[in-house]
Amino acid sequence: MPAASDKVTTATVRARKVSGAVSGERIAVVTAYDVVFARLADEAGIDIVLVGDSLGMVVQGERNTLGVTLDDTIYHTRIVSRGVRRAHLVADMPFMSYQASVEDGMRAAGRLLKEGHAEAVKLEGGVEVAELIRRLVGAGIPVMGHVGMTPQSVHGFGGFKVQGRSAESHAKIVADARAVAEAGAYAMVVEAVPQALAAEITRAVPAVTIGIGAGPDCDGQVMVMHDLLGLEPAWKPRFVRRYAEMGKAVGAAFAAYAADVRAGRFPGPGESYD
Ligand code: KIV
Repeated sequence: MPAASDKVTTATVRARKVSGAVSGERIAVVTAYDVVFARLADEAGIDIVLVGDSLGMVVQGERNTLGVTLDDTIYHTRIVSRGVRRAHLVADMPFMSYQASVEDGMRAAGRLLKEGHAEAVKLEGGVEVAELIRRLVGAGIPVMGHVGMTPQSVHGFGGFKVQGRSAESHAKIVADARAVAEAGAYAMVVEAVPQALAAEITRAVPAVTIGIGAGPDCDGQVMVMHDLLGLEPAWKPRFVRRYAEMGKAVGAAFAAYAADVRAGRFPGPGESYD
C-alpha cells in the first residue's frame, strides 16, 4: 500500500488548483480497462486512472460509447482497481445509467463504488445534470463532470465534432461548466473545445479542469491509453501525442512468434521440461 501521504484523493486533486488558477503542476490522467495497464499506469506515477466509456470503442470495437452497460463498467472498474494503489480511480457512468432520473443515477453511481471499487464517478452534461451531481456529492460520492464535446451526445452533435466555436455554443459550455462546479463536482473533463474556451473555463470554475483536445491551459490532461501508446497505428487525430508505437511492436512480436512456430524454432533448448 502507498504511504497515506502518497495516495491521490479528491482532496489532493483539489489542492492542485489554487483559488481558481492553475497552480503549477498539472494532473496526469489516463484511461485503463484491465489490471496490467492499470498497474503500469499507477507505478509510472499517473495521478488519476479513468475507466472511461471509451471502453466501448477501444476494447469492444464499437463506433461510439453508447452501447457500454453499467455491468461492463463495473466489471472493468473492479479489475482495474486491483492494479491501482496510489492513483485516484474514477469510473465513467455509461449512457442511460443516469439520464432518465436522479434515482437511476444515484443507484448506478452507488454500484460503481460498492461493486467496482471506484473512488469517484464521471458523468457527462451541464445544467441538466446539476441536480444529480448535488445529490451524489451529498451522498458522499465525488463527481467528475464532463463538458464540451460529450461523446454520449454524438448523435445530437452530428458526429464527434469540436464544440464551442459559435458564440451560442461557447456561452452554453461556460454555463454548463459553472453549473457542474456549483453543484459540487471536484473536477471536470473539458473535451474538444477551442483552447481559449478551455482556458476561460479553467479560470472561471473552482473545480479542476482536465483537458482532452482542449489545449494546454487546463489543470490537467487526459488521454485514452490506446492513443498514448499507439495501439491503433491508423488512428492519429490532432490532439493525440503518441509516446510509444505499441501497435507496431505487438504486431511484429506476433509475426516473429508465428514464424518461429512454423519453422520449428520455438520452443528451443531450455524452453521445455525434462
Ligand atoms: O471515456 C473516456 O475515456 C473519456 C475520456 C476520453 C475523458 O471520457
